Amino acid sequence: MISRAEAEALDRADPLAPLRQRVVIANPSRLYLDGNSLGRLPVATRVRLQQVIDAEWGEGLVESWAQWIDLDKRLGDKLACHFLGAAAGEVLVSDSTTVNLYKLVGAAVASGKTVLVTDGDNFPTDRYVLQGWAQQLGVTLNVFASHPVYGPQAAEVATALRHVPHGTALVCLSHVSYRSGALADMAAINAVVHQAGGWVLWDLCHAVGAVPIALHATGTELAVGCTYKYLNGGPGAPAFLYVRRDLQETLRSPIWGWFGQRDQFAFGAQYQPAPGVQRFATGTPPVVAMAAIEPGLDLLLEAGLERLRHKSIALTALLIALYDAWLAPYGFTLGTPREPQRRGSHVALRHPEAYRISRALLRAGVVVDFREPDTLRCGLAPLYTRFVDVWEAMDRLRTLMATQAYTAFSPTRARVT
Ligand SMILES: Cc1ncc(COP(=O)(O)O)c(C=O)c1O
Repeated sequence: MISRAEAEALDRADPLAPLRQRVVIANPSRLYLDGNSLGRLPVATRVRLQQVIDAEWGEGLVESWAQWIDLDKRLGDKLACHFLGAAAGEVLVSDSTTVNLYKLVGAAVASGKTVLVTDGDNFPTDRYVLQGWAQQLGVTLNVFASHPVYGPQAAEVATALRHVPHGTALVCLSHVSYRSGALADMAAINAVVHQAGGWVLWDLCHAVGAVPIALHATGTELAVGCTYKYLNGGPGAPAFLYVRRDLQETLRSPIWGWFGQRDQFAFGAQYQPAPGVQRFATGTPPVVAMAAIEPGLDLLLEAGLERLRHKSIALTALLIALYDAWLAPYGFTLGTPREPQRRGSHVALRHPEAYRISRALLRAGVVVDFREPDTLRCGLAPLYTRFVDVWEAMDRLRTLMATQAYTAFSPTRARVT
């Protein structure tokens, strides 16, 4: 098995290594393999926030709205053109992922997509939003079982659509599974859905900034995603939504807010949706939180998305190799696809005692997530995770398995896992 010195040699050869200094690492001995609920803080974000607070809010006051008013579209364009394989004018930064899902599903249902389809392992908020719409409007919700490691497959989607009337399906899936890390085949799944005359709504939360995304090339109709994971936008940072250009004028948001109104400052009597993707805006955006997104995007672009993906694959492969050598003998199983092209940037290690192990790991200075019922989710953000971090974290994990140190921890779940 690879030695610590060999892992350090990989870091010395890593072209992205210098960028680690551009994020805040307050405690270098604490290994941050959170998977990925919250990306690290870029140093430039501190500077940007100071400027927003002191100069733009403190001094400029309400006049600063002249520069804030189009921030949602400007950041949306940057995401569209550089991260999502879409075009300017198709992406808006707004609200949370949950609210964006609510708006896009509601708009699709109102335009005739009355059979909602998802997989039972999709992220809870996606399933709940779909359940909510199904109940409120009496439309059908079909939930199909997907493979626990490989995630939803095109063949499963085809089966789920077999009895759905042509042209009525809205299929809502995650590009990267929040639990297993499986990377769905967007092109193959879209092809199946399009053959049935349906639309696809992709949840890109665990994908954006971590894997290549080609919304146009795959003909995707709708998408949502967050900015606080691999994009390093900060806790609760606003999310984004994508609506393919040719659909924008025919769709209406179910939330008729004044930021989505044509000629907003005319304060007209009747709601008239704004042209383009702007109609999916709701109310006053959280400007400070939104301004915090851009430095993270710029840092990733400086790193280069291809180089990030290349390193992410190498990091996850290293973790899987260490799992094979050190952890499988302790009763762990791998909950993530072995094929690099079929996984995102986190690895799921499954064990019946995963919860207590996650608490023991935290005590040992290794931050991972626990996901019910039995998963340790190890996120390997390639911007700042070193090969030696992966080596050291897995070494600490095998030590606490050997000593059974985790048995001293309570199985009662903390409020946040
Ligand atoms: C795949 C996925 N979708 C949706 C969400 C929820 O997003 P939000 O809480 O920003 O609405 C998350 C949160 O972690 C997620 O991982």
